[in-house]
Amino acid sequence: MKKLRCDQTPAWAALNTHFNASGKHFDVREAFAQDARRFEAFSQDAPHVFADLSKNLIDADSHALLLELARQCGLEQQRDAMFAGELINSTEQRAVMHFLLRNPPYAQYTPAQAAINKIADAQAEVEVTLNAMLAYAEQVRADAAITDIVNIGIGGSDLGPQMAVLALNEFATAGKRLHFVSNIDGDELAGVLKHLLPGNTLFLVASKTFTTTETMTNARSAKAWFEAQGGQDIARHFAALTTNVAAANDFGITTTFGFWDWVGGRYSLWSAIGLPIAIAIGAAGFREFLAGAHAMDAHFRSAALEDNLPVRLGLLDVWYRNFHGFASRSIAPYSSALRRWPAYLQQLEMESNGKRVDKDGQPLPFDTSPVLWGEPGTNGQHAYFQMLHQGTAVVPVEFVAVKRAAHELPGHHDKLLANVLAQAQALMRGKKDAGGHQDFPGNRPSTFLLLEQLTPASLGALIALQEHRVFVSGAIWGINSFDQWGVELGKVLARDIEPRLQSGDISGLDGSTAGLLQRLR
Ligand code: F6P
Repeated sequence: MKKLRCDQTPAWAALNTHFNASGKHFDVREAFAQDARRFEAFSQDAPHVFADLSKNLIDADSHALLLELARQCGLEQQRDAMFAGELINSTEQRAVMHFLLRNPPYAQYTPAQAAINKIADAQAEVEVTLNAMLAYAEQVRADAAITDIVNIGIGGSDLGPQMAVLALNEFATAGKRLHFVSNIDGDELAGVLKHLLPGNTLFLVASKTFTTTETMTNARSAKAWFEAQGGQDIARHFAALTTNVAAANDFGITTTFGFWDWVGGRYSLWSAIGLPIAIAIGAAGFREFLAGAHAMDAHFRSAALEDNLPVRLGLLDVWYRNFHGFASRSIAPYSSALRRWPAYLQQLEMESNGKRVDKDGQPLPFDTSPVLWGEPGTNGQHAYFQMLHQGTAVVPVEFVAVKRAAHELPGHHDKLLANVLAQAQALMRGKKDAGGHQDFPGNRPSTFLLLEQLTPASLGALIALQEHRVFVSGAIWGINSFDQWGVELGKVLARDIEPRLQSGDISGLDGSTAGLLQRLR
């Protein structure tokens, strides 16, 4: 039976009524004053992640109605369809099975689990590829001649591995430098190459499709540089991570690690695209990373909706976007190692849920993905937190903090933790002054995600938490979170414009593009 669109469900109407009656006047400070147990009620443990949601603009009624909305939108059935390998990416007729990449080895299944696992063949292929990739990672780690690894890729073939390699620096092997080249701007590749020697360098060409212009252009230039510098043995110095092994072979790369069309680009760091992570932290570390994500998968699959952290976060996102009308969310990792976390989440959420039509292509009358933006703390405090505290727009903030530091420098970590606590507190409490410039309105919502330590396992769980939370809001909105047609038009137009930069042909162009093109020639 076709489900009602979310805004046509009784729960949505009830949420509207609740919002207009009391939700929009909700004051979290009063809520804490009235309920000594608010922290316990709106916080929870999930695998590797503790989440405090209590400083958000929610109460027991809105929470219950949001859970009802999830039920009326068939969230559980949609989740189960993903885990059953159904073709939920309907515009591309593909399954969405990145979770399979982090399942424990099939051999560990009980016969009963194996019998109900319809996707055993895919799982078997995953294991063969994972073993090969991890053996290769260990080989590279043991090869003292390879000092520099350059990952050439963009979007999901860059952001995830880059973010994770930086985040797990504490666990990285010494003697290997990892570089990430994504931009078609030659400045980036040239800036990396000038410090390298071909005999000490391994290039990883990471591209799901092996057709992306940026990656192909950078890969061609890297290969030309390698050969011009006297580099020998492409098989040793270039590897391709791709679903399109034939294209990689045509390009001249014979060392290849494959994956499958059911792994979306922005969900691909668990696949061969994660090779830079595996080189950095080793095979055992990479398996811990997968296990952390798997623990979050199990939580998402089995925890009751009211105790299910991805569900609670995703529903909060719907509450803020569609009822409060908050247009953005600020991402504030209080961890320098997580400095690419905001950029990574931008692709994950905005490319997944930045859609204006439902699964059938019908325009939606409500808003979908918020804008995600941010910087690590405490840096953001000295840049844009002014606006978060005293600007006209309310921006929910999502903090991430890590209890145990990876370093031993005295004093730093307590100062860092004091700041993250203080910012969340200040946003909520506000301050009444004489009025005017020094007043803080307060009642500004934030979520606080806390890791015991930043490890491969906790990072894996934190990422999977975000993947599933994006799934939840997308499922409520009834959109396909797994395609990205919105990136196509610009690519097509760039192909048309590129030769015009040489020829000067402006026929058929709009006045602005024509004028700019002439200036650029
Ligand atoms: O930006 C569009 C996109 O298709 C992303 O979804 C993807 O992660 C990126 O381009 C790179 O694609 P590929 O891995 O195929 O080079």
